Amino acid sequence: MIEGGILKACVCVNTASVVAPLDRRIYGQFIEHLGRCIYGGVWVGENSKVPNIKGYRLDVLNAVKGLKPPITRWPGGNFASQYHWEDGIGPKESRPRRFEMAWGGEEPNEFGTDEFIEWTRIVGTEPYITVNAGNGSPEEAAHWVEYCNSTRNTYYASLRRKHGHPEPYNVRIWGIGNELWGRFQVGFCRDGEECGWRTVEFANEMRRVDPSIQLVAVGADYDPEWNIDVVRIAGEYIDYLSVHTYIFTERQGKAYEELVAWPKAIEENLLAIYRTVEQTRAKYRIRRSIKLAFDEWNVWYPEAQPPYLTQVTSVKDAVFTGLVLNALQRLTKIVPIACFAQTVNVLPLIVADDEGRLVLTPQYHVFKLYSEIEGGDVVSTGGCSPSYISKELDAAVSYLDSSAVYSRGKGRLYLTVVNRHPEEEAEVNLRIRGFTSSRAVHKFVAGSSVEDRNTFDEPHRVVVEERELAVKSSQAVQLPPHSVNLLILE
Ligand code: AHR
Repeated sequence: MIEGGILKACVCVNTASVVAPLDRRIYGQFIEHLGRCIYGGVWVGENSKVPNIKGYRLDVLNAVKGLKPPITRWPGGNFASQYHWEDGIGPKESRPRRFEMAWGGEEPNEFGTDEFIEWTRIVGTEPYITVNAGNGSPEEAAHWVEYCNSTRNTYYASLRRKHGHPEPYNVRIWGIGNELWGRFQVGFCRDGEECGWRTVEFANEMRRVDPSIQLVAVGADYDPEWNIDVVRIAGEYIDYLSVHTYIFTERQGKAYEELVAWPKAIEENLLAIYRTVEQTRAKYRIRRSIKLAFDEWNVWYPEAQPPYLTQVTSVKDAVFTGLVLNALQRLTKIVPIACFAQTVNVLPLIVADDEGRLVLTPQYHVFKLYSEIEGGDVVSTGGCSPSYISKELDAAVSYLDSSAVYSRGKGRLYLTVVNRHPEEEAEVNLRIRGFTSSRAVHKFVAGSSVEDRNTFDEPHRVVVEERELAVKSSQAVQLPPHSVNLLILE
């Protein structure tokens, strides 16, 4: 109901109705050797005039730390399908400068495995490495696992020690290839069957070195046949099927309401892919459990072209981001890993120029909000809200979207509510069962219009705003138009 310019809605939370424990890896990130993501973003080198610590760009490092990303995928993306990891280890002066086949650039190899692992340690994020299953070999991938994880006195483990890293890196999550379904991919596969067999060959050699690693195979977002073949053939070898989704949107063309309807389709599609995985497992009697890794997702504007893939996102993209994160919380049981593409300078959360200036996008601030959710159980939410019709989805989309995480141990309820409405403030009646709070904080990202963005000239136009809230188990809260809200109730 919309009364006098105010959207009346309700959100009901039942803390006893547990969906699943929250896997915080859904708030993951992705960094690729592409444009100025690694070089100029994550890494500037020790001799740079841009402040750095051991070559890692300091302002970016601090901004990333602020997000507490639980997992970070590297080195690509398309880049991974032509990357030979041995180029990026050892003394910097002897590392080759290579023609980079995925994007047509040049790879100086200053930033390699040791630099990535050290960065993950400083940030406090779990490393997730994608091996080259394009023009690389299973043997090369197995050597990489040995370099990272082995404690033996064999060649690659000893090489790591020789490079000053006596302890194994214990990289647990490994991706076998990237988007092998695409002809733009170096070493692409002709079909899911070929990808299935290639995955088996890689898994077979990589697991001989370290049987404890978890493997991610290439899945497709809109090709069930591909997913069926990969799971049928490689199902007993993999732990996750990777899914990527970008919403390609025109700068002016796509209406705001259409953009923010898409997370509903993303959620339904992830559910459908998981159903396909489960049906295939049942049909072919695959015992291994397989979940989804949604390890690239974002909006993609036409200005984001190679070689830099830069774009300036705004509040509408922040609303999109909050909606996807809400969906991922609800899906945490079947999609325990997700990685936003990408963290810095490429389709970026963080924009960092060569002059040492930094801008945090509205999407960054949404991730910052969700980073406050330390853990707990995702519990079911329901509610009532007016809706609108999305033409692109041919479906009704409710203006309000909610998700909740309950930490019984901390006595804390995290309620994330997105108001999609472009103009109306929402008056939301909260009904919470099984939890009484005495204190509440309301933080939100809304800006003053859906087009608001942060730029070098105006870096703080959109920020996280905060209100104290006197909350009882049942009462109304006001949520600004086009806003992503976090209510922390204690
Ligand atoms: O994130 C940019 C690119 O998009 C990645 O390299 C690729 O995996 C995807 O197509």
